[in-house]
Amino acid sequence: MDNANPLLIGVLGSGSGSNMQSIQDAIEAGTLNAKIVCVIADVPGAKILDRARRHGIPCDYLDPAPWKTKLEGPAEDRYIEYLQAHGAEVVVLAGFMRIVKPKLLAAFPNCVLNIHPALLPAFPGVAAWKQALDYGVKVAGVTVHFVDAGTDSGPIIVQRAVPVLDGDTPETLHARIQVEEHIAYPEALRLLAAGKLTLSGRRVSGSDSATKA
Ligand code: GRF
Repeated sequence: MDNANPLLIGVLGSGSGSNMQSIQDAIEAGTLNAKIVCVIADVPGAKILDRARRHGIPCDYLDPAPWKTKLEGPAEDRYIEYLQAHGAEVVVLAGFMRIVKPKLLAAFPNCVLNIHPALLPAFPGVAAWKQALDYGVKVAGVTVHFVDAGTDSGPIIVQRAVPVLDGDTPETLHARIQVEEHIAYPEALRLLAAGKLTLSGRRVSGSDSATKA
């Protein structure tokens, strides 16, 4: 792979960081021309920070106060400054459990991505796999999308389907969805890094090959 001009990624997370790990693994395997330039957690001691440290990635907990569910005001400014100071050109939300607001989106136009554990637009919001199971759908899945000002509502880049089985619990279904997440996020970033994605209104073209029906 031509490693000139890697995609410079800043990651925001709140928890385990398995998606960040899948992206870093793809980079280290030479299948994704990118570099994670920093990781920020909004939860002190989040496991995603340990993972980042293990790979020598600059990382920090940044206090998101006073809000519980969104990133706004002085905290939002601190996050933007940190991302820019580390040279991030793309912001990857990887299990980041708060809404990002227009100021951050404007600082990285069409360059903020999120992963959601459902086939959007079904089941936006929290614990989407549990929503899907409770609803009784037969096919669940995962969506990687550009972030807009709404909740889980931005243009869709990649989707991968996951069957719901009779004996599923929320935990077993989420585990099966996460296997696909770890394929979908590196794939979406690969397409972005290669300049293959075109955005026209809500429609993203160039990602057919990455989507699993
Ligand atoms: C994933 O299921 C992701 O889809 C959701 O939060 C979870 C994060 O997992 N937004 P991890 O921290 O990447 O392991």
